[in-house]
Amino acid sequence: VAQGRDRLRIAIQKSGRLADPARALLASCGLSWRESRDRLFCYGETLPVDLLLVRDDDIPGLIADGVCDLGVVGRNVLQEQGQDRVESGRVPAYREWRALGFGGCRLDIAVPDAWDWQGPQQLGGKRIATSYPALLRQWLQAQGIAADVVLLSGSVEIAPRLGQADAICDLVSSGATLSANQLKPVLTLLQSEAVLAGPVEAFDDVRGELADLLLRRLDGAIRVRK
Ligand code: PRP
Ligand code: ZN
Ligand code: MG
Repeated sequence: VAQGRDRLRIAIQKSGRLADPARALLASCGLSWRESRDRLFCYGETLPVDLLLVRDDDIPGLIADGVCDLGVVGRNVLQEQGQDRVESGRVPAYREWRALGFGGCRLDIAVPDAWDWQGPQQLGGKRIATSYPALLRQWLQAQGIAADVVLLSGSVEIAPRLGQADAICDLVSSGATLSANQLKPVLTLLQSEAVLAGPVEAFDDVRGELADLLLRRLDGAIRVRK
């Protein structure tokens, strides 16, 4: 895709929990699109604001690389990848522009129901499975706790039953997945929701005016929903 700098390109989740509400929120800002045949790119009709439909985990990187200008993504994903950049000595390449008020969830530490929970120090020397290693390491370090971080990309909640880990650190929405796996939440590391992510610096071309217009409409749409 050409780097057309007279249009704004927004990355949103292709499918998953944030996909439909993200699109509905942008539509409520007066945007409409013509879909491509592969349904991965939506060409903006009412305004020069296009959508790219991608995996949510790819959104921060697409902004960092300048492939997309903005993105709608969970704060959990944005902060995990931001912290990963910090850990590896890279500069922050994006920031949260707005909280969008949907897709709320928590990044929690959960332990087996049978544990008699005494507090964070109980995690010392334990193995904690997670898909959020950078955020978990940052938290453990701040607490002065030495624990093993076991990286899993999904089905984290099953790790304790499989003997792969003692505890987990994963997203909790309704809590149903935790209960189904005989786990209980004991600590919250992050309150998450869908956010509009963008570059650290403002745009210095026509995209700046488009982004300002979009932000004004978004703020109006978010206010109406509250
Ligand atoms: C998310 C999250 C938890 C679950 C929590 O997974 O990773 O596993 O939802 O929701 P609950 O508290 O309502 O049960 P998701 O189903 O989105 O799939 P993923 O882990 O593959 O992203
Ligand atoms: Zn994902
Ligand atoms: Mg899951």
